[in-house]
Amino acid sequence: MIDIHCHILPGLDDGPQHEQEALAMGRAADKEGITHIVATPHHRTSKYDNSKDTILAYVNLLNKLFEREQIGVKILPGQETRIYGEMVEGVKQGELLTQNQTGSYLFVEFPAGHVPRYAEQLFYDFQVAGVTPVIVHPERNSDIARNPDILYNLVKNGALAQITAASLTGVMGKKIKKFTQQIVEHNLTHFIASDAHNTTTRPFKLREGYNELCDRFGVGVEFVFKENAELLIEGRMVNRDVPERIKEKRFFGVF
Ligand SMILES: [Fe+2]
Repeated sequence: MIDIHCHILPGLDDGPQHEQEALAMGRAADKEGITHIVATPHHRTSKYDNSKDTILAYVNLLNKLFEREQIGVKILPGQETRIYGEMVEGVKQGELLTQNQTGSYLFVEFPAGHVPRYAEQLFYDFQVAGVTPVIVHPERNSDIARNPDILYNLVKNGALAQITAASLTGVMGKKIKKFTQQIVEHNLTHFIASDAHNTTTRPFKLREGYNELCDRFGVGVEFVFKENAELLIEGRMVNRDVPERIKEKRFFGVF
């Protein structure tokens, strides 16, 4: 398995604070059958700034540690950047890091309670520049929960989206689970990832996520999502079905 969203680089954000914790995460991932992890530290949030050069240096360091400790997981560089207006320049100027540095896919995080109005234009500008934005965990955004058409419009216009395994398995609560299922059903997501931060409160559980995907939507969907993770790290075109609107707007006011 490939995990495309994970906070595993030590001391950079709210993931592991020390090397030992990062090693523990690596061992847990190895045990679960994860072979590749895209390390995606937070960037441009109120608390954390981790630009491309820092991330590349830490990825190198952690890969060396994993080799030394015989942990069979390869760390690839990535970033989880909070949306801001000048992101396209950020990519061009080398502050932002596309997933596995292929130049093709960039993670974009919205603030939890809000999707800025300029997102649509920004996403258009990204695509003109040859970069496909990937919206991380849309199921945890309250604007999108109130009005799923926001997600539909962004995906219809070329964005991709990644759901979190814990949202689909129910760890984040029943309402988020139901909404995540609807997002899958309506072809509004293309990837599942752990968004793991540690081995205790926010562990990988990626296999459980894929199992849930398979049980509920069939082995074909599980296969497509697994293949998409592979295609993403190779910078190749991912599978996507025609998105549909979620008509049932039952989540108003639940967040
Ligand atoms: Fe994250």
